[in-house]
Amino acid sequence: MELGSLRLAMPTAVLAIVLSTAGRPEHSGAAALPGQDLQAKLEYCKTCHGLSGQGYYGYFPIPRLAGQQPKYLENQLRAFNERRRTNPVMANVAHSLSPWMVAALAAHFRNLDARPIGGGPKDRVATGRTIYQEGLPESDVPACSACHGPEAKGQDEIPRLAGQLFPYTVNELTNWSKERGQGGTKVDTSAIMTPTAHNLTQSQIAAIAAYLSYLP
Ligand code: HEC
Ligand code: HEC
Repeated sequence: MELGSLRLAMPTAVLAIVLSTAGRPEHSGAAALPGQDLQAKLEYCKTCHGLSGQGYYGYFPIPRLAGQQPKYLENQLRAFNERRRTNPVMANVAHSLSPWMVAALAAHFRNLDARPIGGGPKDRVATGRTIYQEGLPESDVPACSACHGPEAKGQDEIPRLAGQLFPYTVNELTNWSKERGQGGTKVDTSAIMTPTAHNLTQSQIAAIAAYLSYLP
């Protein structure tokens, strides 16, 4: 089979799964144990986010969750659910999760240690590293390492960026103000990143995303 058609086929199959499970209540049988529920939910997440949470390159990129900070992950699920972060797929997914389940999923993904998939242009990695560690004082871009950490592992509400998929990071930084912090009055944690994302050029974004995509 051609790789191209395989890549296109996967999201369609996966979308069918989402649509068929979207309306299902959290507890379908009174006898179901929380542990079994968690296992089923994890398998569901991993059909898209990869068996070890490493992310998935497809028609649209599905982000890595392995090693992600639990507080950040929980925050994002809440943001999807409240439509402050716009994504039709994840809005449906987040809608059906109980607080207990969210905490259990976050703890599970935090402990996964998948190897990065890489995928960014290698000739941009060195430039990306410099911007990440030092920022761009002439364009008011702070050093990313100041918040995300020298190894890009994140902390609490600040996400891990190490090993994130190249096209996903490019998408987020390019579309920040259109997809995050939506819905008017309530200011959320996404506001911290708005000026930084705005001040980066496409070429600088690609360089940083390339650097991060290889970082273990
Ligand atoms: C049908 C595919 C699909 C399924 C199933 C799915 N996700 Fe996602 N998820 C996505 C996509 C696509 C995105 C990227 C959304 C965007 O671009 O804003 C995403 C984004 C996320 C993010 C934000 C990551 C970040 O770095 O900001 C979290 C957290 C997340 N998903 C958690 C989960 C959890 C937990 C489950 C299982 C309960 C799950 N997802 C199931 C497709 C899926
Ligand atoms: C002042 C602290 C701070 C600085 C400096 C900072 N960030 Fe962030 N960043 C955050 C916070 C907080 C979030 C989570 C926002 C949210 O909750 O939506 C974030 C989120 C992100 C995300 C989204 C990750 C995901 O999985 O969707 C990317 C990408 C990102 N930052 C890249 C960068 C880059 C590149 C730089 C440097 C040019 C940088 N950040 C500098 C605080 C910071």
